[in-house]
Amino acid sequence: MFVSGFDLAQLAENASQRGRQLLSNLQAYLERDYEQRGLPDFGIEKAAEIIGCTSQHLRGKEGDGVLPTPRTARVGSLDRRVYNYNEINEIRRHLKRDASRPTSCARLIFSNLKGGVGKTSHALHLSHYAAREGFHVLVVDLDPQATLTTAFGLIPGLNIGADDDIGPSLTANPELILQSIKRTRWNEIDLVPAQLSLQYTDWQMLQARDDDRQRLGPLPQRLRQALDQVAHRYDLIVMDTPPALGMLSLNAIAAADMILMPITPNFYDIASSVQYFAILSQLASTYVNALRVRQLSLLMTRTDSSPETRTNMSLLNQAYGEFLLTNRMPQTRELQRATGDQMSLYEIEVPRGARETYLKAIDAMNTVNAEIMQHVWQVWRTAEIALPVEGQHG
Ligand SMILES: Nc1ncnc2c1ncn2[C@@H]1O[C@H](COP(=O)(O)OP(=O)(O)OP(=O)(O)O)[C@@H](O)[C@H]1O
Ligand SMILES: [Mg+2]
Repeated sequence: MFVSGFDLAQLAENASQRGRQLLSNLQAYLERDYEQRGLPDFGIEKAAEIIGCTSQHLRGKEGDGVLPTPRTARVGSLDRRVYNYNEINEIRRHLKRDASRPTSCARLIFSNLKGGVGKTSHALHLSHYAAREGFHVLVVDLDPQATLTTAFGLIPGLNIGADDDIGPSLTANPELILQSIKRTRWNEIDLVPAQLSLQYTDWQMLQARDDDRQRLGPLPQRLRQALDQVAHRYDLIVMDTPPALGMLSLNAIAAADMILMPITPNFYDIASSVQYFAILSQLASTYVNALRVRQLSLLMTRTDSSPETRTNMSLLNQAYGEFLLTNRMPQTRELQRATGDQMSLYEIEVPRGARETYLKAIDAMNTVNAEIMQHVWQVWRTAEIALPVEGQHG
């Protein structure tokens, strides 16, 4: 139908102006939200528990002036001492309770060709868990969906510049990783963010001129070379990968000491795990010298007590017994809600649902992460034995 006086050019111009206004309002809102959102505050009992001492000990050291005067928050008519994770780690350093640090950096990827299995959720929670323990962590987001990046409060186009992802260090110069590292609200965690344009990095890597290719080295090893520039600053590098096996995921596998594969116990995910292992086996034989993986573990996620899940869990046990972590992460609304709000369970001050459900969820997450950290310690110890002293970080 023809409508007289219809001016598409004017209409589109108006829409684009309104869209720009909407974007700028949205950005202002996101900026405010990011600035307001801090780490949770804990009372002295909880802070002491995380540090691994008693609250009397902390009070004593504060009284002696060994520790800085804590912040206080008014609860009813009382001023209570409060501490966040950054302050807790500061106290650890003052009390010299950060001694059992590794002498090398372990690199770990969460990987699975299947989407929605918990790669990003567990990458987020493991990095927070390790930082809570006082370890220095670099989180590298290799997924153009950038879910992990936004969970750290960084938003593509707002506080991430066009070249601030891992791309340039893979396609131009490994040292450019230094420019893409961002600080987060966790003092112990830095982040290399992702954004949608990472989609093109695979293609760009394959398009490189011959002389660039020679200068930059073999395609699958680019990420490892970039990480080598900064690994001495960190105890642990946690990488999140997209649910696809492109050049980014291949680079992640070639850079990893440990592969953690979250898997949900349902038929389709089990079927895709078979394909994943077949591809991994091919990769490992094609790139024998490029891989440094020393640990491969499967983490059962989103489990429930239905008969079907139980049957599948026992089948998974039979097939992959020695690779399976002993602990698993049950399906829980608390995790779903937290990640929906771009937070981890460790960042929640007041649980959204029943407190008991929250405590169960965080308990399960803690046991999973403690088990993963045992494996990380194995990698650290192996590196300690293998490396000459000058190759280790302090
Ligand atoms: N144990 C769990 N209980 C409840 N919800 C969970 C659990 N683990 C993950 N989820 C939810 O499942 C969804 C997918 O999780 P996540 O983003 O971590 O998966 P993913 O493997 O990274 O997915 P993708 O491959 O698409 O990046 C999220 O909404 C997350 O909150
Ligand atoms: Mg993900």
